[in-house]
Amino acid sequence: MPGHGLERGAGLRMRIDGQDVDAYEGESIAAAVMAAGGLELRETDHHDPRGYFCGMGVCFDCVMIVDGVPNTRTCVTFVRDGMTVEHQIGASSADAPTGSAGH
Ligand code: FES
Repeated sequence: MPGHGLERGAGLRMRIDGQDVDAYEGESIAAAVMAAGGLELRETDHHDPRGYFCGMGVCFDCVMIVDGVPNTRTCVTFVRDGMTVEHQIGASSADAPTGSAGH
């Protein structure tokens, strides 16, 4: 946003469900997935779609498999160059990694 002290981070490449996409440092994974056209981030065990909901790491509806780690909350995890993100079926909040923002 010119004039507001906010600038987009440096560009990077990541892979979402097998497709290379552009993203920017400082974006959450969920933002990058949505910018690439994906609104569904995971499915429940009963194959009901789930997406971005609380946006603050509470609901676990946004969990995906990130660099092979399932149950990663994509709303509070930043993108990294070369990161791979995959759609997840089912989720367990008990298995979720903690404190993922910026790591
Ligand atoms: S959208 Fe609720 S934990 Fe990510």
